[in-house]
Amino acid sequence: MPFFLPLEKSFYGSKCVKMKIGLLTGGGDAPGLNGILVSVTRALTAQGHELIGISDGFEGIFEKRYRKLNLSELGTHYQNAGTFLGTSNKCGTTGREQEFIARYQEIGLDGLVVAGGDGTFSGLKKMEKDIHIIGVPKTIDNDLEGTDITFGYDTACTVVCEAADSLRATAEAHKRVLVVETMGRTAGWIALGGGLTAYADGILLPERPFCRTELFEFLNRKKKSGSRGLVLVVSEGARAEGEDPQVAHYVPDSPQKERYGGISEHLARWIEKELGWESRHVILGHLQRARPPTVTDRFLTLAMGAEAARLVCEKKWGYAAVYRQGRVTEAPITDFMKPARLVTPDHRWVKLAQTLGIFI
Ligand code: F6P
Repeated sequence: MPFFLPLEKSFYGSKCVKMKIGLLTGGGDAPGLNGILVSVTRALTAQGHELIGISDGFEGIFEKRYRKLNLSELGTHYQNAGTFLGTSNKCGTTGREQEFIARYQEIGLDGLVVAGGDGTFSGLKKMEKDIHIIGVPKTIDNDLEGTDITFGYDTACTVVCEAADSLRATAEAHKRVLVVETMGRTAGWIALGGGLTAYADGILLPERPFCRTELFEFLNRKKKSGSRGLVLVVSEGARAEGEDPQVAHYVPDSPQKERYGGISEHLARWIEKELGWESRHVILGHLQRARPPTVTDRFLTLAMGAEAARLVCEKKWGYAAVYRQGRVTEAPITDFMKPARLVTPDHRWVKLAQTLGIFI
């Protein structure tokens, strides 16, 4: 069951001047993006505003690719992952601010509702005098400051949990260690949430470089005590003490160029070599972003979309819809523009894992 409580404030029935409002999704996709688009469009259309869908993130502004959104076009998009507007995590605005502002004005927008991450908002912040922005924080990584949770995270954790559950069967059948690699970049929230709910035997996070000796001893104890198979859930940015994370490849025109990946395979070979315990690895990759949003993410996004619509009607430019202390409410966009929110050493989920005897 979703645990999100209703909106702090409702604007239904309020009177405001009719506006032309753009909708844009920026950065990597996250399950629930379509829910935001549908919710904002429904709420603002009901108030008589005109909604303009911008294609492919910032690219759509620069290239003036957009279309008017109407209720019949929305259909059942809210059920699906991805974003029906398209997105991009490559096209930035740095150095092109004047061009961006000019295109925005040519389209004739009174405001822009943007679902994006810290990179998206850092670029837009420089243009705040000329462009009216309402934000919705977005990333499956759940590592944005200013909001207690981001949509897409619950869906990503569900993918990890279900994969780890399934892989335990084959691990035990073959007496193997299965190393499951999750997304998350520098933050371990997905590995932690997914690993905990699947009772993984070990969870390795970027924030907690592991000691090879301690991991060896843990695995050896498990082996000697008769465990048939094990499941380790490992974040893509995890690393051993004194070592760097594994970089799979670089995306030159992306604001965050390195893409992490490969730690699971590296660990599987190390376990085989050091312990003589047959191992396999699975990289879940973009499956974590491709699953239809869970009910929890759907509930969160329909509430956040309605909150973003309220902020538009009240012209609270520079604000965003966030989730704090059990409520969807408002906060300045600058609250996200901080270093990533990481798993702290004494976080209650870390302690929970330790209480359950999970290696972390
Ligand atoms: O930030 C979201 C995220 O999915 C990370 O977890 C992952 O490292 C990265 O994006 C992958 O990016 P791309 O879609 O460019 O491969």
